Amino acid sequence: MTYPIAVLVSGRGTNLQAILDACASGAIDASVVFVASNRAGVPALVRADRAGVPHGAFTTDEYKTRAATHGAMADALVAAGARLVVCAGFDHILAPVFFVKLAGVPVINIHPALLPFFGGKGMHGDKVHAAVLAAKAKESGVTVHRVHPDTVDLGEVVVQRRVPVNEGDDVATLSARVLAVEHEAIVEAVRRCIAKEAVS
Ligand code: GAR
Repeated sequence: MTYPIAVLVSGRGTNLQAILDACASGAIDASVVFVASNRAGVPALVRADRAGVPHGAFTTDEYKTRAATHGAMADALVAAGARLVVCAGFDHILAPVFFVKLAGVPVINIHPALLPFFGGKGMHGDKVHAAVLAAKAKESGVTVHRVHPDTVDLGEVVVQRRVPVNEGDDVATLSARVLAVEHEAIVEAVRRCIAKEAVS
C-alpha cells in the first residue's frame, strides 16, 4: 500500500524534495498527501506546488495562538489522511493539540547534528553547525527522531548518521556536507517508519 505521509516545513525544503523524489522514483512506497508550512511564500511550498501536492501555510499571524495554528494544521493533515508526519526543516515546537488531533500518527523530525548533542530549543539550521564548530567537535551528523509533545530533540532515534568535521570547515562547508547525508537519512527514516507501521 502506498503510505500517505505529510511533511511540515518552514523554508528551503531540500529535505522535502528528497522525500518527493524518493516517492516519485519508487525508492519508498509512500506518497506526500499534504505539505504544511508555518510561513507563507517559502520555497518549500513552491516545491510542493510543483510536485502537485496539496499544501498550505498556517501562520500565527492568521490563527493568533500556537495552539490554534497547530490545531488547524493537524485538521488539514487528518483530512488528507496522513499516517506519518515528517518535520523537515520545521522550526516551530508543535503544540500538544497537534498530537491529540493526530493520535496514533507518528511524528518524526530531522536534526542536523548527533543528538543528544547540539539540540534543544532554538537550535535550528546554521546555529547548530556554528555550535558544533565552536565546540571544536571532530564529528557531527544527522539524527532523525520521534517527536513527542512538549519535548525538543529528545524522542527515540529512528536513523542516525555520522559526518566528519574537517579542518578549516566553516558553517557553509559543514552544513553542505551534513545536508547531503540528511537527504539520504530522511528517506531511510521514512522507509523504516512505514515498514514498522505497516506491520503494527
Ligand atoms: C535542515 O538542515 C534540517 O536538518 C534543519 O533545518 C534544515 C532545513 O533545510 N532542521 C533543524 O535544525 C531542526 N532543529 P531544508 O529546508 O532544505 O530541508
